[in-house]
Amino acid sequence: MEQLSNKRILLGITGGIAAYKSAELCRQFKTAGAEVRVVLTPGGAEFITPLTLQALSGNPVHQQLLDPAAEAGMGHIELAKWADLVVIAPASADMIARLAVGMGNDLLSTLCLATEAPIALAPAMNQAMWRDARTQANVARLAELGMKIWGPGVGDQACGDSGPGRMLEPEQLAAEAAACFAPGLLAGKRITITAGPTREAIDPVRYISNHSSGKMGYALAEAAREAGAEVTLVSGPVSLPAPARVNRIAVNSAEEMLAASLATLDECDIFVAAAAVADYRPAEVAEQKIKKRDEQMQIALVKNPDIISTVAGHARRPFCVGFAAETEKLIEHARGKLERKQLDLVVANDVSQPGIGFNSDDNAVTLIDKAGETRLAQASKTQLARELVALIARHYENQAT
Ligand code: C5P
Repeated sequence: MEQLSNKRILLGITGGIAAYKSAELCRQFKTAGAEVRVVLTPGGAEFITPLTLQALSGNPVHQQLLDPAAEAGMGHIELAKWADLVVIAPASADMIARLAVGMGNDLLSTLCLATEAPIALAPAMNQAMWRDARTQANVARLAELGMKIWGPGVGDQACGDSGPGRMLEPEQLAAEAAACFAPGLLAGKRITITAGPTREAIDPVRYISNHSSGKMGYALAEAAREAGAEVTLVSGPVSLPAPARVNRIAVNSAEEMLAASLATLDECDIFVAAAAVADYRPAEVAEQKIKKRDEQMQIALVKNPDIISTVAGHARRPFCVGFAAETEKLIEHARGKLERKQLDLVVANDVSQPGIGFNSDDNAVTLIDKAGETRLAQASKTQLARELVALIARHYENQAT
């Protein structure tokens, strides 16, 4: 059920005896790697406690629409935007009726109006209530509006009746939820991406660095997460916000970046080095601020470790992708890096051209492997990152088989 990895599921629980099974459903979503937030209606809370659901989901349970404390945390609109999928299980006849007419008289029904995420219902009720013409008309209306109706199952009911109205089992519901998401190209894969510049300290207030904005690495991190990967972003100092659902590790120097990168290798399938690592660092960092004295001063520099080469030579070597920013002989120089650094792929970009590469929003690159070259036309870094992730995934799969 890798499709649920990193997905955000809003689990609505309404009043019905099947609510006790929703605890298991919540656990199954979590086990599959999803983030879960539970919205419990007053009826639902008669059957299962918020404490149980808080413990299983790892998040506070949302119960009230007009609760100033809750609104100050994650308000109802924020919650509606947060969800990738809304699953209401069990969905009572009352909730189905209210959704069918578009009411917003409690937190869960309001969320269903406000969200743009798909909504799925797992009806659970007495068989006569399910068969009732009004319930059937309401369900038909909701299906027409695009809501997914999962179940109900047929069988013995808690009230002693037998017939349609049983909530589907948690395993079946979790499988239905997984089927809502296309398996990403990198589903279940772990990827580490370095991004941004490094800062090499001269003294407590000065450093050597470069103009890298980190945009390409951050766009790749987002695209990899969209493709289902678990992403660690080892980032030098940049002014970009951390992408959602990405594990960002902030570093300053090349040595810190190397240590943070190596620490991910126990669980890393693909390593992408998009950082502009300073080639040299001051041989010594002055303890105190260096005073202005002579007309000239010299700073002795020593070579920094090459992060991607170290990773590529590691015993637990992941699939390695490097970048090559060149001002001349693009392909020749990039191919040299592929061989020298023992990489699987090199993303080459010509930084002599205005409007692409360093610090700009656009880029145009050529992907190079042992067999050949693929040129990707100029596009936004976001668009290009998606294309690159798809190509990296394809090369990774080919090499793994
Ligand atoms: O050798 P050059 O700096 O041009 O190589 C660029 C590639 O190597 C990029 O992928 C960059 O992130 C990586 N690199 C590194 N550690 C360094 C220098 C470069 O990982 N010290």
